[in-house]
Amino acid sequence: MTLAAADLGHLPVDRRPIGVFDSGLGGLTVARAIATALPRESIYYVGDTQRCPYGTRTEEEVRAYTLQAGRWLVERGVKIIVIACNTATASALTVAQRTFDVPVIGVIAPGARAAVHTTRSRRVGVLATNLTVRSGAYTRAIQAIDAGVRVFGCPASVFVDVVEDALASGDRLNQDWFEDKGVFMTPAVRGLVQQVVRPLEGHGIDTVVLGCTHFPLLAAPIQEALGSDVRIVSSAEETTSELIETLRRREQLAGSDAVARHRFATTSENIASFAVAGSFIFGKPLRSIEHIELNELEELRG
Ligand code: DGL
Repeated sequence: MTLAAADLGHLPVDRRPIGVFDSGLGGLTVARAIATALPRESIYYVGDTQRCPYGTRTEEEVRAYTLQAGRWLVERGVKIIVIACNTATASALTVAQRTFDVPVIGVIAPGARAAVHTTRSRRVGVLATNLTVRSGAYTRAIQAIDAGVRVFGCPASVFVDVVEDALASGDRLNQDWFEDKGVFMTPAVRGLVQQVVRPLEGHGIDTVVLGCTHFPLLAAPIQEALGSDVRIVSSAEETTSELIETLRRREQLAGSDAVARHRFATTSENIASFAVAGSFIFGKPLRSIEHIELNELEELRG
């Protein structure tokens, strides 16, 4: 059965929102891909901006934060959770799947699949946060599909700071910049990216996974630094395909006459800044944003 057939309205429908979670704004690259592919689905997005970055924290912290956000979303009636953060996926996907009654999808397995499908040299680089690289989650996920692929991790948490800093200066952002990604093609960013990706040189790598949901925003300087022979893959579209397949098989799509309603929540005190930067990444204005008190989250357990 195809998605079009499911969309005819003969199947059961489920209008509950899709929960999407990230440490901050980066997961909106995934939410954007979901909203584009599934225009009838409602999304409930949580960005734990106040405790971002996760990539330089301990696994225990990231696990606790992910379970809190997951519980918050479950209490709001989501039908599925997408952990749109590689760092949280690496540390907490398994425990979240064991904890919640709804299915939980991460971004690492889809990113790994895209890399394995793309590489010819069977040598893959992974650009990710320090914690994601240290966890070895990408190596395991890639080699579970093709044990002959060699994986080279490159810690790049500094890229998260570059993106967050640029997004914090919200008045400089506009849609044109997003479309051509020129916003990050400054001499300083290009120089930094060249330096950070250097360990990936000289290994015969032909494919690099952007193993952090912030990094698609830096795709232009990363591609320039790696050279045009290297293919860049990111997990947003692959994760969306997995989401569609899961909802379709479970007969939980919203149906062809559903009207999507997107809601956003952040632990940031600065809703205005989240709105500007978030709209830039999501590609549409974030109309409904609420603030979550950290106390409220900290009281929640998986
Ligand atoms: N969005 C996170 C990820 O995909 C990175 C940001 C962070 O360090 O919190 O890994």
